[in-house]
Amino acid sequence: MNDREEFSPIRWDDGLKLLDQTLLPREEAWIDCATPEIIADAIYRLAVRGAPAIGVTAAYGLVVGLRTAGEGQEPRERFAEVSELLGATRPTAVNLRWALERGRRVFDEHVDRGAAAVIAALLDWAHGLHAADVASCRAIGDFGAELFVAGDRVLTHCNTGALATAGYGTALGVITSSFRAGRLAQVWVDETRPLLQGARLTAWELGRLEIPYKIVTDSSVGILMARGLVDRAVVGSDRIAANGDAANKIGTYTAAVLANRHGVPFYVAAPLSTIDRDTPTGDQIPIEERPADEVTHVFGADVAPDRAPAANFAFDVTPNELITAIITEEGVLEPPYNESIAAAFARQAGEERT
Ligand code: MRU
Repeated sequence: MNDREEFSPIRWDDGLKLLDQTLLPREEAWIDCATPEIIADAIYRLAVRGAPAIGVTAAYGLVVGLRTAGEGQEPRERFAEVSELLGATRPTAVNLRWALERGRRVFDEHVDRGAAAVIAALLDWAHGLHAADVASCRAIGDFGAELFVAGDRVLTHCNTGALATAGYGTALGVITSSFRAGRLAQVWVDETRPLLQGARLTAWELGRLEIPYKIVTDSSVGILMARGLVDRAVVGSDRIAANGDAANKIGTYTAAVLANRHGVPFYVAAPLSTIDRDTPTGDQIPIEERPADEVTHVFGADVAPDRAPAANFAFDVTPNELITAIITEEGVLEPPYNESIAAAFARQAGEERT
């Protein structure tokens, strides 16, 4: 393991610090998260982003919340208040709800031992979640690399690297592992409008990792595939339904339809914490809609007529029949996903018991 691999956008140094991803790649500045309001704001404005990174941030956010409870405020009341504040920030990324729900179980188990004890237990748990997310990403990378063959040119969308997780990344973890195994020649990086997570963040990470890449506009996917320049595509997900339908950054569905049209394998890489078995199909996944000015403005510059109306869906849903396989820390899942997903959770439960 070298220092690049251990890179994480989330740090705990007797307090939470988050790398402000809105400033990348120009500036590397860390936000001091002294209150849960600062954390909720960082999640909402995408200073920290990517479903697994949001989940781990929320876990530490519960600790910060309890530490900053008002004089004489009941821990139960404070926990509910902070959990609601953090939970309201981003509706599609299920890792957020997943982490808050697990945090509640830890809280319930320890709260009767007093505020200091419950805070210590939650901090231990948050550190564990952080480490477990990195381990999941590494396993996803190893399983995913097996699907690649030497010389592959891979397309990816949005940012799914160390920045979007506790470290190493999901789809970008697969790309990293494949490159290191000598099976990857080049990455096509979709710029990912409107907030340019591909052009700003994925390109930044690939540069640090010394993996060859080219940025393309999102609308280039058709010509790249039509010309036979893409051998496979791998993306992340914010929420995968029980039937394998996967929500991810807007534009993913378009890329999946094109991949299907051109016979390009299309993989989704995600930890089991992104699979929401309470959501039967993609139709029930809530899709975040963000302010119109993210579309009408490009980094502060107004590119549309004054007061031009705009729609800003942050995610879309790729139906399971367009997904060749889902790469998880429990292995590569193949259709029918209802069955392979249930089996992966059963395997994980078995491992946790032993
Ligand atoms: O709006 P963002 O930047 O949080 O969207 C992120 C994505 O769409 C990622 O692909 C997804 O969260 C998986 S990150 C490992």
